[in-house]
Amino acid sequence: MFVGDSLSRNQWQSLVCLLYTSLPNTKYNATRVGDVSLFTFLDFELDVMLDRSVYLVDVVREEKGRVLKLDSIEGGKLWKGIDMLIFNTWHWWNRRGITQPWDYIEIGGQYYKDMDRVVAFERALFTWAKWIDTNINPAKTIAFFQGISPSHYNGTDWNQPGVKTCLGQMQPISGSTYPGGLPPALRVLKKVLYTIEKQVTLLDVTNLCLLRKDGHPSIYGLSGMDCSHWCLAGVPDIWNEILYNFIVTT
Ligand SMILES: *[C@@H]1O[C@H](CO)[C@@H](O)[C@H](O)[C@H]1NC(C)=O
Repeated sequence: MFVGDSLSRNQWQSLVCLLYTSLPNTKYNATRVGDVSLFTFLDFELDVMLDRSVYLVDVVREEKGRVLKLDSIEGGKLWKGIDMLIFNTWHWWNRRGITQPWDYIEIGGQYYKDMDRVVAFERALFTWAKWIDTNINPAKTIAFFQGISPSHYNGTDWNQPGVKTCLGQMQPISGSTYPGGLPPALRVLKKVLYTIEKQVTLLDVTNLCLLRKDGHPSIYGLSGMDCSHWCLAGVPDIWNEILYNFIVTT
């Protein structure tokens, strides 16, 4: 089960396509129950699932409005007992204005109109880490965290100042170092992962994908200019191949 935002959906679609194209006549059923999308390989009793949970922690409607609860992770009840969990969150933490899906942030019973988003992200990750240590049975469940997936909206980061999208990018960045450096959220994520007692494997794809300014749908995606998601087939398939290698070697 993938758990996270539309980048997780990107990964889930890629994995379903990789599995299905290797057995094109196999029987399947595709459905959605609440926030969970399921692709079932009927001959194998295999569900490949996606739980859409953009913050991992809860967003709850209360009298005063929609509250992002950094200490609450009730949504985790859907994750219990799953064989393999692949988490991801980051892209929604910087949302503001009409696409921000909450009115208040709650920490320890206190409500805030806003706060530093990286600090909020870290607090939520610690809540998630506690959930892992409390709820994961390592004999049954393998857990991963999909690293921070980078976007390409600022050409200054790859030495093309003035370029504001990924449109027309046809080459990866050469070499192995991204001129714009690593996103600060990755440092926060690693810091939290080090505190977990159970094992969570980081799929550390950030640097790999920073180099792929040519890998986004741009105007050929579902809406407007998309330099956040990744084309299928393409970058997400590589993430899944790395995932596969972790699974077969551990
Ligand atoms: C692009 O990145 C540069 C360097 O980090 C920064 O100074 C600039 O404000 C950024 N541009 C936009 C539109 O965010």
